[in-house]
Amino acid sequence: MRRGARSSIAPYPGASRDSRARLPQRVVRAPARGYANPAVASRPEPDEQRLDSLLAHHGERFAERFGNGSGTRLFFSPGRVNLMGAHLDYNGGPVMPMALDRGTFIALRARADDRLTLASTLEGEAFSARLAELPAAASGRWFDYPLGVVVHLLRGRPRSTGLDVLFGGNLPIGAGLSSSASICVGTAHALGKAWGQAAEPMTSIVAALWGEREWVGVRCGIMDPYAVALSRPGHVLWLECKQERFEHLPFDRENLRIAVVDSGIRRELAKGDFNRRVAECARAFELLRAHAPDAECLADVPAAAVERSADELGPLLARRARHVASEVERTRRARAALLAGDHPGFGRCVSATHESLRELYEVSVPELDCIVAAAHEWQGVLGARLTGAGFGGCAVVILARDACAGFDEHVQRAFEQRFGRRPPVFFFRSDAGPREYGS
Ligand code: GLA
Repeated sequence: MRRGARSSIAPYPGASRDSRARLPQRVVRAPARGYANPAVASRPEPDEQRLDSLLAHHGERFAERFGNGSGTRLFFSPGRVNLMGAHLDYNGGPVMPMALDRGTFIALRARADDRLTLASTLEGEAFSARLAELPAAASGRWFDYPLGVVVHLLRGRPRSTGLDVLFGGNLPIGAGLSSSASICVGTAHALGKAWGQAAEPMTSIVAALWGEREWVGVRCGIMDPYAVALSRPGHVLWLECKQERFEHLPFDRENLRIAVVDSGIRRELAKGDFNRRVAECARAFELLRAHAPDAECLADVPAAAVERSADELGPLLARRARHVASEVERTRRARAALLAGDHPGFGRCVSATHESLRELYEVSVPELDCIVAAAHEWQGVLGARLTGAGFGGCAVVILARDACAGFDEHVQRAFEQRFGRRPPVFFFRSDAGPREYGS
């Protein structure tokens, strides 16, 4: 198992490396602007060829905006889905995410002067300033995400080569597939390369975490940038968040498929709710650590110790701690099942996670429960759960290879009967971290 370079940013709240991680912070995810390209929803598995042509098209959009010229470079940075380890990263537990073959497109070109322009095909407003005159704080707009990363990249290493940068992508935004880590890690990778830095994943992870936590003000765990930066096709990333240690576990691409169904729910409330869960877990750990002296984080506290302290915790904190203790155990079982080729066993863990998120962590919504229930009716579905933080966003479904045909229609119909609209269904493949195209 490899160990990530110490990021100097704490892996979970309460860990001591960064006092700023304990400050109350706003949680704002990338703006919910729907799909970059609605036509890509509900189509069969995309392939590398398709990504190639989408990026070529993005290059044309760049030329329309910034003019033709030599030296335009194209980059792709994936989104991620987390299969197991729900809400464990900021509790110091293990997580099992995977990068997806949809994400952020970045086109850029060096300028003759020192001006930086950050534009997007999804947003009207662009950012533009001289590199020596970047703002001192975030402004609440979409470009906070890449700009925070730029500020970090330039700290102690000022640059004089300006860049024109155009962002775009084909990931549902704000839907629990980590569009924010995708743009932050992608920015670190692409702009780092444009400025002649070595494309080290840990450098991108540190810059992305700094940008999200310190610039944008999101109190996020480490899972998302690790997943985006370090994933490999055909594998899930196994990340022990307390130790920041990771390894790649084979995911049977031959026989398993991943579908993601978007509930379409984007709740402003989710920002406060996510922070509240982080705070509840911190409080539960404060109470439990007296009874589990060796524990360094909530994920270290065994289920039996939680039960012994249930009265002291009170019903709400006991539910949160029960989710965390059971999810740690389930995630380790899911790992064993995956490695043993026990796909039904792996799927059962995924589905049990949804139950726990609904009953104990209370982050599901009726739309997600409906998708999960409909998925379970379909022959060949092995497991289903909400993914990301919850409160809306997407459900992830693990299917046997032969079960894909007709699955989207089945779920859409069941959802439509109850909610009067058809949710987009995506089939994804596992993918690699950020990379340059045509280089
Ligand atoms: C959000 C956060 C992640 C993680 C998940 C829940 O996506 O950004 O760090 O906490 O929720 O597993």
